[in-house]
Amino acid sequence: MCAELSHVSLSACLGEVLFTQEQIADRVRELAALITADYQDTPFVVMSVLKGSVFFLTDITRHIDLPIEMEFVRISTYRGGTSPQLEPLFAEHLFSVEGRHVLVVEDILDTGATLQYAIQALLDKGAASVRTCVLLAKQGYETRIEARPDYIGFCIPNVFVVGYGLDYEERFRNLPFVAVLRQRNDGDNG
Ligand code: XMP
Ligand code: MG
Repeated sequence: MCAELSHVSLSACLGEVLFTQEQIADRVRELAALITADYQDTPFVVMSVLKGSVFFLTDITRHIDLPIEMEFVRISTYRGGTSPQLEPLFAEHLFSVEGRHVLVVEDILDTGATLQYAIQALLDKGAASVRTCVLLAKQGYETRIEARPDYIGFCIPNVFVVGYGLDYEERFRNLPFVAVLRQRNDGDNG
């Protein structure tokens, strides 16, 4: 892994680009069209799970052709590494949920713990309905989570990815594309 992040170039850290800026933009528009069609008669609130979904959220909501509301929460399952912790650590200031239709927007589905936690918390607080929209779903998520996302941008192999909101130790979120983070045994010397 890129050990000294502040002293290495991007190319030393990044592997294959899985989705370019253009591919992401196209898919985001498609998802927004589906959501617009599905929620024609249902006022709803989009709940963003920070920080990873930040660019996905701002892009997709600007293509949803309905008067939505937006709320933000933090749920963290990673402590700076690339291996998931089993329990989500932290969910703060859950907004007033009762009776509202909620669409959860998440960056990536891996073990499914974050999404499961969000769905349960919203239902416990009396949400009228909960749907979920994830940009990326890691291969095999079906075996790790009961809930199925209602909208999925792309399915990816079981690799650690960065960019378009996704980070490694808070870096790389601002990349406009999604790329694989290189591991030490990928030929990375640092
Ligand atoms: P779970 O396991 O709860 O994971 O489905 C979802 C959360 O874990 C983070 N995550 C990643 N972050 N690259 C990242 O930058 C990845 O490949 C990755 N896989 C999981 C992410 O915060 C997500 O919300
Ligand atoms: Mg996240």
